[in-house]
Amino acid sequence: STPPITLALSGAAGQIGYSLLFRVASGELFGRTPVRIRMLEAPRALAAAAGVALELQDAASRLIVDVEVTADPRAAFAGANVIILVGARPRTVGMERRDLLEVNAGIFGPQGRALGEVAADDVRVLVIGNPANTNTLLTAANAPDVPRERFAALTRLDHNRAVAQLALRTGVGVAEISRLTVWGNHSRTQYPDLRHALVGDRPALDVVGREWAESTFIDVVAARGEEIIRARGGSSVASTATAIIDHSRARQLGVREGDWTSAGLISDGSYGVPEGIVSSFPVRSVDGRWEIVQGLEIDAFSRARIDASVAELLDERAAVSALGLL
Ligand code: NAI
Repeated sequence: STPPITLALSGAAGQIGYSLLFRVASGELFGRTPVRIRMLEAPRALAAAAGVALELQDAASRLIVDVEVTADPRAAFAGANVIILVGARPRTVGMERRDLLEVNAGIFGPQGRALGEVAADDVRVLVIGNPANTNTLLTAANAPDVPRERFAALTRLDHNRAVAQLALRTGVGVAEISRLTVWGNHSRTQYPDLRHALVGDRPALDVVGREWAESTFIDVVAARGEEIIRARGGSSVASTATAIIDHSRARQLGVREGDWTSAGLISDGSYGVPEGIVSSFPVRSVDGRWEIVQGLEIDAFSRARIDASVAELLDERAAVSALGLL
């Protein structure tokens, strides 16, 4: 029988954790591979996490071989093959960005150090907690011995939102949409790009027109998180869990021929994105490793949008550096 995979999940008692864990129990994340679950929580949420662990027992999943709950990153990450970092300190009213970055550096710095020391040699790290790109940077900077391509920030939710909007607009099923990219930061400055996208075999721009592609489409996708908060009274949870699963399956199994997806990766300088910052790119997975799709033509409109989002990422990195946290 297949040896189990060890999954460590931070923020496991939070909303996304609660949605994701039961989908892991039903095999959506790792197929039929059995899984050991390590739930990492803040001390104040340990009791709630233990409650979720009881419910996981009640799921009577044939795939879950073991569940542990801890507030110690080293215990959670020991031997972990997959680490999903959801737990973060959200921005609260009146909180300065400097404080937000500092608090999150206090979470992701130590967690990065711990995973660099104790995780499995093949570890993959996916960061969801916001600001996701800069939290990924902090995690990776504190785990210098882990290969850079193992770290990703989740931008698959933005990608899925963009695919869904294009499918709605053009009246096709989502399976007809390909070659769409989300560039930059997981924030309002992100650039959902239709320049290379196809609807069936037709260029998306020919189908929807430039005007819609360059204004409404970008605005709707980039503001979708706020729209959900207004409509639902809370941020995206189940769709985020779906995106985590889609990201991970695409990494494990690859993306269909001729297509790609989007993920926040540590830049190697591709597309003029400064080396070392974590930006969303068009990506494919080759033998379980993320690679940036190369050779796409970037026109003046795309250049300006990518540069604007990259400027925000450079700003976040500078702010973290100025605090002495990188
Ligand atoms: P939540 O507040 O329900 O859960 C967060 C959990 O993290 C809480 O249980 C909290 O106790 C825990 N936590 C806090 N500090 C921790 C630490 N040091 N170690 C371990 N756990 C810790 O929030 P929710 O809805 O689950 O969202 C979590 C994060 O995901 C937020 O930062 C949110 O902004 C982000 N997010 C990112 C998305 C993306 O596309 N990248 C989409 C949706 C949410």
